[in-house]
Amino acid sequence: MGRTYIEDLSQHVGDEVQLHGWLYNKRSSGKIRFLLLRDGTGLLQGVMVKGQVDEAMFALADELTQESSFMMQGRVRKDDRAPGGFELDVTGLKIYQIAKEYPITPKEHGIEFLADRRHLWLRSARQHAIMRVRHRIIKAIRDFFDGRGFTLVDSPILTPAACEGTSTLFETPYFDLGSAFLTQSGQLYAEAGAMALGKVYCFGPTFRAEKSKTRRHLTEFWMVEPEVAFNDLNDNMDLAEEFLEYIVQSVLKDRGPELKALERNTAKLESVRKPFPRISYDEAVAILAKKGVAFEWGNDFGGTDETLISEEFDRPVMVHRYPSAVKAFYMKRDPLNPKVALAVDVLAPEGYGEIIGGSQREDDLDLLLQRIDEHRLPREAFEWYLDLRRFGSVPHAGFGLGIERTVSWICGLEHIRETVPFPRMIYRLTP
Ligand code: 4AD
Ligand code: MG
Repeated sequence: MGRTYIEDLSQHVGDEVQLHGWLYNKRSSGKIRFLLLRDGTGLLQGVMVKGQVDEAMFALADELTQESSFMMQGRVRKDDRAPGGFELDVTGLKIYQIAKEYPITPKEHGIEFLADRRHLWLRSARQHAIMRVRHRIIKAIRDFFDGRGFTLVDSPILTPAACEGTSTLFETPYFDLGSAFLTQSGQLYAEAGAMALGKVYCFGPTFRAEKSKTRRHLTEFWMVEPEVAFNDLNDNMDLAEEFLEYIVQSVLKDRGPELKALERNTAKLESVRKPFPRISYDEAVAILAKKGVAFEWGNDFGGTDETLISEEFDRPVMVHRYPSAVKAFYMKRDPLNPKVALAVDVLAPEGYGEIIGGSQREDDLDLLLQRIDEHRLPREAFEWYLDLRRFGSVPHAGFGLGIERTVSWICGLEHIRETVPFPRMIYRLTP
């Protein structure tokens, strides 16, 4: 008899099967033992009745502690009241290991207690649901680009220079070559990829030595970054809204039970349909003014500002044309108003803030050189990047979507720390 998984039980009603996993919970009532098994794909209650199995087997059930690993064999029965729709009439048990006293019990635990035990906390139903949504988001991202003729071009993680400003770089010694920096964004390399392959994306971990201790910041996070030759700012916004709609609708289609387990209000996700509103930075500032916020033109929005702006809309809002002074060196200025950059940030609804940052890129060699000097970046380190403007430069644009902020929003979480298996934050490097 082969191994069966809980998620496949609908194909095995009436069959005798073997399921392998861990004890999630247990109840006894007189001559009956109820064993709740989790196997990573779901939960299943096994029912063992005294007299229907031999004495030794029945005694084994009483040895099982929370998170003990075991195999349970039995016949699958449809039961509409059961969580997954099935129950197992148990005929056999095999114990792999009896777990020592498991630290995470069904009672409430403090967040630091759980975070210190993240390697175990991942086994809880809520974390299970979040990881399943995260995976579906990542699959949607890959399907979206792969289905539209994009080529995956991975960017390096060890890099010689900054991409998103020098203040948040992690530095590490690098043999005889001095220092290397953990990448903040794969974008500059994705631009090289776009000049070679037209439509590309890179997808990998990125690092920011962020001093910010907020519910939106990690020091290590995953980012997907498409880059398209010949796209301008409007094309970039078209791509971003189609992309986000695709991700959200894919999760709604395939992760209903997980969203339900997370008590997510899915009506708020259903409305994530294009077109998304597009407003300029100036219009966003006007929204803040209307709400009584003393905000000075030229500053970047803080988390609270983003929340106030996004509250005006029932779907993500695209804010474009930020003051160039607060944006990265590579962003192209608006020819109609050089004070602003052809940038776009996408703010998620429900107060989740910026999930996408992007722009049309400066494609003129001399202007790009000026920007590099103004930002006091070392020109030598960017020589290869400048070559992209020397040899067949074209208009191009792209953006970066932060995976963890997206997971946080789609799952409706309080804090970004639950969106990634092992979060890295300013005060947390373990487990
Ligand atoms: O706006 P950012 O800094 O843009 C870039 O890095 C560009 N080079 C992307 C590009 O155009 N190819 O970051 C992009 C996104 C943010 O919108 C946010 O979702 C996420 O990355 N992000 C973070 N997520 C978690 N923790 C942090 N510290 C983050 N910083 C940025
Ligand atoms: Mg940004």
